[in-house]
Amino acid sequence: MHAGILRRSSFAPRHESSAPMTATADPEIHFDPLSPEFAKDPYAVYGQMRALGRPFYYEPEGTWMLTRFADVEAVALDKTMLRNPEDRRSPEEIRAHKVKLNMHDMPHHERFVQVSMLDSEGETHARLRKLVFREFTPALIQRQRPAIQAFVDRLLEGLSDREEIDFIADFAAHVPGHIIGRVLGVPDEDCPQLRIWSENIVQYWNVGRTAEKKQLAESATREFYDYLTGLLTERRTSPREDLITRLQGYRDAGEVSEDELISLCMLILKAGHGSTIDVLGSGMHALLRFPDQERRLRDDPALMKPAIQEMFRFESPLPYFHRFATTDIEVAGQSFEAGTRFGLLYGAANRDPQRFDNPDSFDAGRMPNRHIAFGGGVHFCLGNHLARLDMDVIFSTLQTRFKSFDLVEEPVYKTGLSVRGPQSLRIALKAA
Ligand code: HEM
Repeated sequence: MHAGILRRSSFAPRHESSAPMTATADPEIHFDPLSPEFAKDPYAVYGQMRALGRPFYYEPEGTWMLTRFADVEAVALDKTMLRNPEDRRSPEEIRAHKVKLNMHDMPHHERFVQVSMLDSEGETHARLRKLVFREFTPALIQRQRPAIQAFVDRLLEGLSDREEIDFIADFAAHVPGHIIGRVLGVPDEDCPQLRIWSENIVQYWNVGRTAEKKQLAESATREFYDYLTGLLTERRTSPREDLITRLQGYRDAGEVSEDELISLCMLILKAGHGSTIDVLGSGMHALLRFPDQERRLRDDPALMKPAIQEMFRFESPLPYFHRFATTDIEVAGQSFEAGTRFGLLYGAANRDPQRFDNPDSFDAGRMPNRHIAFGGGVHFCLGNHLARLDMDVIFSTLQTRFKSFDLVEEPVYKTGLSVRGPQSLRIALKAA
């Protein structure tokens, strides 16, 4: 399939030079990821893009969007496709790329966020991933169950006199940051601030980067950096049984640099934060939209695991990542040059009728359900067991504590391409 191995000097990212020769206009498709219409129903547009039978060129990002499951999976698994081809570019090309994406003049963001394990490749990626992989095994993650349960119980106690809540602001938004913070070793009282930093940094990955967002992302990274260096200094004098202390040990052993360590902590803290909040919201919304499936789950709690798997498929909370081709290559039956940027629309792939029967229906017992919400290949999500565990504890507890949930008003979903989840979700609760 690959037409040849690329030489270093020949790597010129396509979207920074000129529009690809093969780009075709698709005037009949209105793909505007920042519009409220898209936020309301991205799947209708994804369906139109899929029906083209070839990748869709999205000019503002200089990216060929992939919507079919088979194409998205093939690119995610292809080891010649890189998230970050920086070692194949000259410093001038790197600079031009950053300017094009408005990701320049952000010293802290460029130093710790733009170069994380997620954006590293080859040996560096393998070395960093090995260090944290052992911290996220299912067995180790299961040890967090009692702490998650205790935290969820406490939160629900605080809401016990309420008949109506915003499921996101009053409940879901508090859980993931607290648990990830706990794994890392962040004190409970600082966890709410982590959420604010994470959100401000993550927003910057979305399309439509403004000067204001740039400022917010840079200052959030700087504050986050100051906070983490303080915590690391403290752990040096009083080590604890937490990930930060262990990472400090790896640094002392020369396995990771100071900058890599900070960047890893930031990645772990932000990677699963907003995404877990979003899928808690969209998962609850799915149960409200499909009450027969909610009843099915109440009647058979053994369906909780498949139901959670289905929540990730149905509204994939991180629907868009990218890869660069490093060789001339054929994707979806079309030829592309080295340097082409591809958009992996995980959210679209997970609604592909070629892959899933009735993809637009929420089926709590769907089987098989091998979706791609956590990506695939070398960058496959490290935190998926933790995200699933949070969801399991939360939805199991809600089902035992409450007889019913009712939607108070139709939620509005966030705009953009990189995240998917309701902004708020007003629900009425009836205690069991
Ligand atoms: C709702 C939950 C989550 C979703 C949907 C999700 C999704 C993803 C996806 C799609 C990727 C691959 C990105 C790519 O293809 O380029 C990824 C990578 C990653 N995720 Fe998650 N994630 C979630 C939760 C978490 C949590 C809770 C953590 C950590 C506590 C986490 C840590 C990571 C890390 C460290 C990577 C980078 C892995 C690497 O580059 O080797 N994620 N995630």
